[in-house]
Amino acid sequence: MHTPEFRIHFVAFVRVLTLMAFMVATKGWNAAADAQIDEGVSSGDLMVHAGKNISFVAANSRKERCKLITRVIFILNITKVGEYACEFACNLVIVDIPDGIESIGKCAFLCCSSLTTVSFLTTLRLIGYCAFQYCSSLENVDLLHTNLEELGQAAFSFCEELKSMTMPDSLRRGGRHVFHGCSKLVPSNINIKDADAVLAHLRSQQLL
Ligand SMILES: *[C@@H]1O[C@H](CO)[C@@H](O)[C@H](O)[C@H]1NC(C)=O
Ligand SMILES: *[C@@H]1O[C@H](CO)[C@@H](O)[C@H](O)[C@H]1NC(C)=O
Repeated sequence: MHTPEFRIHFVAFVRVLTLMAFMVATKGWNAAADAQIDEGVSSGDLMVHAGKNISFVAANSRKERCKLITRVIFILNITKVGEYACEFACNLVIVDIPDGIESIGKCAFLCCSSLTTVSFLTTLRLIGYCAFQYCSSLENVDLLHTNLEELGQAAFSFCEELKSMTMPDSLRRGGRHVFHGCSKLVPSNINIKDADAVLAHLRSQQLL
């Protein structure tokens, strides 16, 4: 159920004997990776994410280790990127959100200040509260080919370099301050209170 590429990266931080045991029992892959997330973070520049929510406190306590992360891979068959999953990963440049992911949890990519490229696929429906806040290298976000319905409060706030954004027609709700502090995207400090405002605003900016 996992791609060869995933297995190659997984091997990098799981003990050989453990690995062999899992190769026998394929269904062990998910559970094992789940338990290894923090180990993955501590052992180098790769993070494996299995959809778990990280607490605010836990995210803060692993802040220094997260700064080392340059690559995140997502375990197959998960539908959510967990809350605070990649917070403080300030050396992360590219993220491929895989197909199957329906929601990106709150603060998932908060303070990923080197992030320039995020690819989103069709299954995506929700981007949570502050999910990409302070992603200050993000210049273009293309959500056109997703089924995005909701953008959480402050989801892209303080993305200071954000210049263009494409949205799908499926968008129905936008929280407040979605683009607060994105001075290059829109006239600065816009508060967007509801979907109509989001849509009208984006249309007026010819972003839709
Ligand atoms: C993560 O938290 C959200 C919001 O509290 C909750 O809806 C979701 O089920 C949680 N996910 C997991 C995997 O615990
Ligand atoms: C993962 O997804 C594949 C393809 O949709 C499916 O065949 C498989 O049963 C799933 N595995 C788990 C553990 O959900």
